[in-house]
Amino acid sequence: MSLDVAAVKKDFPILERQVHDRRLVFLDSAASSQKPIQVIEAMSLYYEHTHANVHRGVYTLAEEATAAYEGARAKVARFIGAPSHREVLFSKNATESLNLVANAWGRTNLKAGDSVLLTEMEHHANLVPWLMLADQIGIELRYLPITDDGQLVLDDLDRLVDGVKMVSLTAMSNVLGTLNPVRRIADVAHAAGAMVTVDASQFVPHLPTSVTEFGADFVAFTGHKMLGPTGVGVLWGRTDVLDAMPPFLGGGDMITDVRLDGFTANELPWKFEAGTPPIAEAVGLGAAVDYLEGLGMEAVREHEVSLTAYTLRTLTERFGDRLVIHGPSEPASRGGVLSLDLADVHPHDVSQVLDQHGICVRAGHHCAKPLMRRLGVNATARASVYVYNDEADIDALADGLDAAADFFAF
Ligand SMILES: Cc1ncc(COP(=O)(O)O)c(C=O)c1O
Repeated sequence: MSLDVAAVKKDFPILERQVHDRRLVFLDSAASSQKPIQVIEAMSLYYEHTHANVHRGVYTLAEEATAAYEGARAKVARFIGAPSHREVLFSKNATESLNLVANAWGRTNLKAGDSVLLTEMEHHANLVPWLMLADQIGIELRYLPITDDGQLVLDDLDRLVDGVKMVSLTAMSNVLGTLNPVRRIADVAHAAGAMVTVDASQFVPHLPTSVTEFGADFVAFTGHKMLGPTGVGVLWGRTDVLDAMPPFLGGGDMITDVRLDGFTANELPWKFEAGTPPIAEAVGLGAAVDYLEGLGMEAVREHEVSLTAYTLRTLTERFGDRLVIHGPSEPASRGGVLSLDLADVHPHDVSQVLDQHGICVRAGHHCAKPLMRRLGVNATARASVYVYNDEADIDALADGLDAAADFFAF
């Protein structure tokens, strides 16, 4: 079944508004997606009818709230093919999920001189927590390099992985759109005795996901990029690995007993969920999962490949070599994230002109400063597509870029 984008658009109330008297063209879903009415209503309904704290009260509302929260966990587990819902931990966002891995797993299993392998295309969320461990306990970081068209160079993988304790990489670049061969890398890493973490923040919203097919030990992602609310993220981890790890944060819900001289940690998944969790946000994320499953993730992916192909074709025909589009040129090996360099026009200026046309793109370093340096740029203007974008949005983008080129006269 292909996606009925006209029908999808109607589910997103924000798309009815105007910006600078123009139709809103939202092309910044890689930063955060918009929310369908089904997600907004699920959260309102939860607050209007059900809210109470979870796992604590022995009264109807508390039991209903707990069922809603745990029900959302079960939906997420099914959506990512997790063998057990106990392996699905709710966090604040992908950044917190990755910090959990670096701290709870890293501080227990790494010591000075141990190595972690990352890639040159990581988001800061999968870079800074490891850099902090490098500062604090003296681990060493290695990096898989990339080609000029934004693909990982794997020729040297065997050597780079040798002696490494953890390989942590993005499944899809938030700058280049590159889809990385996660399974192949995970297999090599495991054969070398390393653990594998996947930052799937840009993958889970856009492609059918199976954590077991990734072959990873941890998978992190964030709710707000997949039609869910802000304030909720996910870490999936293998049961045996999570069981062997100490808790990350301490406080309510992550204990079964506390004495003055110690505590007993709770079972999975609550061992890693200290304090009142993001209850309404998890309910919203559950509704987002329902929505995406209703569309069908195969159809979501098919739509994005076709729209990315249209975008590449349209922009290349219109601008030729006046526009650099970073990342792989083949739509099937990338997601719908396009980082653009319009000759001699600063990305912030591009973004400002586009805004005057009602078009939202992200200008900046995209929280990937080492990658910007590798590409030889300070910033790019990034357009990213999702289920509510169509060819008319891309035509508007092309016209807006034309206006920017005219305004800055080249
Ligand atoms: C690849 C990647 N990883 C991690 C993150 C961090 O997500 P969050 O800010 O929700 O923690 C992002 C968000 O931009 C991302 O694109």
